[in-house]
Amino acid sequence: MKFFLDTANLAEIREVAGWGMLDGVTTNPSLAAKESQPFDELIPAICAVVPGPVSVECVSETADRIVPEARALAKIAPNIAVKIPITLEGLKATKILAGEGIMVNTTLIFSPTQALFAAKAGARFVSPFIGRLDDVSQEGMGLIQEIATIFENYRLATEIIVASIRHPRHVVDAALIGADICTIPFSVMAKLVQHPLTDIGIERFLKDWGKVKK
Ligand code: G3P
Repeated sequence: MKFFLDTANLAEIREVAGWGMLDGVTTNPSLAAKESQPFDELIPAICAVVPGPVSVECVSETADRIVPEARALAKIAPNIAVKIPITLEGLKATKILAGEGIMVNTTLIFSPTQALFAAKAGARFVSPFIGRLDDVSQEGMGLIQEIATIFENYRLATEIIVASIRHPRHVVDAALIGADICTIPFSVMAKLVQHPLTDIGIERFLKDWGKVKK
């Protein structure tokens, strides 16, 4: 499984890169709005730190506007993936951009047919938002299972980015299904290595080390 960080915060990105666990980053307008650095400086800075794809969202709503916006974003760095919400206009743009070799991450996926259309249009990634489905009492992880099965049935190379992750169990369940990527907020990423029994164990070993004859 690849681990992406779901943030536009450079300090968080640098920290996780330092752990050797960073395979990519996903941003969106809401995440970018939390940062004080101007967007035009922030995105190139993120791209320079991240060893893999950095998703940046297009905000245009028609194909004739999405395409030039995406091309301009893709010029920022070779590891940019343009995020395009799943709409018919977005699909038209995806077909064109994928044909030019630009990585498209189709976002705001809430159904298997949305994912199937995105894959057929040539999207490199699809981002189903599982936490937001859980929030409205729908089974977010069920959507991941359905998309994974469909992509396997038709040998579609589009990678599934499990997005809107809320807790470590989401990551475990996504890994059991075999999803390609989880994009994870920093707070959840840090929890993936925490366990109270590990902390207690370290404390006990250190205490006992003090009693060892040296
Ligand atoms: O990448 C965006 C996605 O992960 C959104 O998450 O927490 O706003 O539902 P959230």
